[in-house]
Amino acid sequence: MTPVAAALVLWLVTYITTPVDSYPDGKVTRACDSMMPQHGHEPQAGTIHSITVDKTTFKPGDQIKVTLSGPQFAGFFIQARDASHLEGSAVGSFSLIDDRISRLLTCGTVQDSAVSQINKRKKSMVEVYWIAPSNAPQHVQFLVTVVAKYSMYWVKIPGPIVSRTTPPPVIKISTTAALPIPTKSALTQRFSASGCGHSKFCVRNPTSCDPERDVECFFLSFQKKANSMQIELSGPGKGYVSFALSHDKWMGDDDYYLCVMDGQTVDVNPAYTTGRMHPETASPGVLQDVAWRVADGVLQCSFRRAIRIPSSLERFPLNGSYYIFLADGDAENGLIRRHHRQPLITNKMFNVSGTPEDVGGSRSPILIKFHGAMMFLAWMTTVSIGVLVARFFKPIWPTSTLCGVKIWFQVHRILMVTTVMLTAVAFVLPFLYRGKWSNVSENVISDIAQFIVCLKSEVYSKIKLHIIWTLSREICTVCVHILSYCSACLKTQL
Ligand SMILES: *[C@@H]1O[C@H](CO)[C@@H](O)[C@H](O)[C@H]1NC(C)=O
Ligand SMILES: *[C@@H]1O[C@H](CO)[C@@H](O)[C@H](O)[C@H]1NC(C)=O
Repeated sequence: MTPVAAALVLWLVTYITTPVDSYPDGKVTRACDSMMPQHGHEPQAGTIHSITVDKTTFKPGDQIKVTLSGPQFAGFFIQARDASHLEGSAVGSFSLIDDRISRLLTCGTVQDSAVSQINKRKKSMVEVYWIAPSNAPQHVQFLVTVVAKYSMYWVKIPGPIVSRTTPPPVIKISTTAALPIPTKSALTQRFSASGCGHSKFCVRNPTSCDPERDVECFFLSFQKKANSMQIELSGPGKGYVSFALSHDKWMGDDDYYLCVMDGQTVDVNPAYTTGRMHPETASPGVLQDVAWRVADGVLQCSFRRAIRIPSSLERFPLNGSYYIFLADGDAENGLIRRHHRQPLITNKMFNVSGTPEDVGGSRSPILIKFHGAMMFLAWMTTVSIGVLVARFFKPIWPTSTLCGVKIWFQVHRILMVTTVMLTAVAFVLPFLYRGKWSNVSENVISDIAQFIVCLKSEVYSKIKLHIIWTLSREICTVCVHILSYCSACLKTQL
């Protein structure tokens, strides 16, 4: 393989094997109180799963077998709570019957006080033991959340009530869980850019595009209303549009807002990222007046949030200055996929509650653009011309020299040295952009590989030329010998 091909293959391999993020399943202790999967979908009404117990009375230390069964499901979450205070914390602890399908979780201060799935494999039955604590209330009720699939789940399905022996009459309790799901209303028309720069802060891409007419226009606006901010976000209706507030120009530890299409509906959710991971959706309770619309290929959503939300550190106060990211991409079953292209990033930090401005941004920072241009120049032009010169121009200028060296070699050398220099400079640019040597990412590795291959090819091509030259000289000498031998033979024969 030639060095160029090797570099190409290396680069392709590192690109293709880039991991695709997905939501990790597993520990769901954040859902301890609400028992809500943090999916942002609305739970199903009614119940199709059944929860049974093997006895209805207990004394401290007793084990009660709890069985959850019904149509196949992927995830579940089981807790026991005081039946007269269902909003309270978990009561008692569990022990597993089959640790291949269930795991113990600790909610609040009670160890092993909840059970959830160990993986997303479909199951139709789960059995666990509940162990009655010494301080158990008079009546205990089992509550179960069942996740059939990502967008289909039931929250706090009321299970049987079990009572301490010699119980007083059971108190009937309503189990409808009041959850703060924001009310959604429909938008009726496209967003307008008319107030941009004087009554609202706008980010548009392409710069100054019109969200009312242009389907490809990405539009984000912030309009201050007393202590809250009205936010509008729209873009091509492919899968999702999102924006993020960030302290820096790269992803990670940012305050995210996602509008994700899921079938015929749109989920509007705040989210946050840690590191360069997939954003995790947070409780939608902080957003008010949520509205959305999908029409004529445009996905729109709007909502309001308080300028400052001190209860949630992940929601940045809007009186600060941030870089603003706009990203879009595909969604599947309400789950977002990694964005195909670079998100749009504003060129500097903006204070969205300060003076209204109308800004654009760029999808790849200038340093990265230079990096790309230089790599392109080096690998598509100087290297190939250099190789062509060495291959074909030698016979054209057999004797002419430049500064004492054959012209073809002089030209070849200049081009190759240029390639090495361009690659070296281009190599440094991403580091300047990141401002530091960050965790070695796949891009950096492919760049390093390319750099090494490039350096080597410069040395290698000289050696190769030398070898070819020597070989062909040897072959010629052998041919001449054979010929003279043959002619000598012929002469003696005649
Ligand atoms: C934002 O507002 C809070 C309270 O009003 C204040 O403590 C904080 O300093 C403000 N931040 C900025 C950047 O002005
Ligand atoms: C942003 O603007 C608001 C309102 O004018 C102001 O109170 C706040 O201090 C500004 N924040 C920064 C970081 O300049």
